[in-house]
Amino acid sequence: MGEAEPRNRAPGNGAVTELKAAIGLEVDDDGLLAELAAGLDRVEWRLRSVVRSDVPFVNEAALHLVQAGGKRFRPLFTLLASRFGEADRDAVVTAAAAVELVHLATLYHDDVMDEAAMRRGTQSANARWDNTLAILTGDFLFAHASRLVAALGAEASRIIAETFGELVTGQMRETVGASDGEDPVQHYLTAIGQKTGSLIATAGHFGAMLSGAPTEQVDALRRFGEIIGVAFQISDDIIDIASPSDELGKAQGTDLREGIRTLPMLYALSDDRENDRLVELLSSPLDDDDLVGEAVTLLRRSHGLERARATLAEYAQRARSELAVLPESSARTACESIAEYLASRTH
Ligand code: IPE
Ligand code: IPE
Ligand code: MG
Ligand code: MG
Repeated sequence: MGEAEPRNRAPGNGAVTELKAAIGLEVDDDGLLAELAAGLDRVEWRLRSVVRSDVPFVNEAALHLVQAGGKRFRPLFTLLASRFGEADRDAVVTAAAAVELVHLATLYHDDVMDEAAMRRGTQSANARWDNTLAILTGDFLFAHASRLVAALGAEASRIIAETFGELVTGQMRETVGASDGEDPVQHYLTAIGQKTGSLIATAGHFGAMLSGAPTEQVDALRRFGEIIGVAFQISDDIIDIASPSDELGKAQGTDLREGIRTLPMLYALSDDRENDRLVELLSSPLDDDDLVGEAVTLLRRSHGLERARATLAEYAQRARSELAVLPESSARTACESIAEYLASRTH
């Protein structure tokens, strides 16, 4: 593998600034920020070394989205959760890399299902190659994630397997849609809790558990992760409508094209019923750029978008209340800052 894994390499100020910008990590403890950045360096090294293959095009396809960047929010949360126990254990870095690999694999698959051409500011794997290659690369990354977690013991393997099952169930729930008589908002919240909340919950669970934090704190960080995961997806669904497309790093209005109703749309369908044109646009998948643009413009002015922001704020508040059992520390303040940041990530 060549070069040794960086253990104590002091990251430059750039790494800390990036951390703040990526996920709003705001804490008055430069030591903690430097340690988290150093931990992310180790995760990065692990990620790039574990996805190696002797087959050049497998390497290329697997590294495609690793190298494209991304916020590394899930591994960061694993590292942060480990601050409640003995933080620098190797198992925590392994878990953080595994969680990011599962996330990455879901992105390869998601872009096939959503027919998305852009991801992390670059071409999606399905656009650069084709669907088959993107699906197989996702599978390859899942396999490596499982291999990493196997080294963490039977309990960690059980947790990641259950998480994967839940994540896929949430994705299926989204694909199939609400059943007759089911409240569509409830359906949406359950689906995103499974497809997005489950993995972020496990990111926190792993960090706390593998650092030997007390059970009560492990449970709290898991619940906090699940709730900020839901908040994260709601905020993602809001900015997909509210932000200019060049800031998203992915195509705007993909859900409108796929006929998937996110929270701002569901609220608009119940609160903005007098807006006949918006109701008509949201009634079926849109395959025309102008129609997507028109729907985005109407949604930006809708009550639905405002109400989704209010729901997001409620989730951020609920997430914060889970932190009460944690000892007061910079790590806890950092968790609070993430919840606050997500609540404000709506433009
Ligand atoms: C994208 O996740 C998928 C969602 C759950 C909304 P991120 O927004 O964390 O994607 P990256 O890792 O930064 O690319
Ligand atoms: C991302 O979901 C994949 C999972 C959470 C499993 P989305 O389709 O909602 O996210 P983006 O908008 O493409 O990143
Ligand atoms: Mg998508
Ligand atoms: Mg999707």
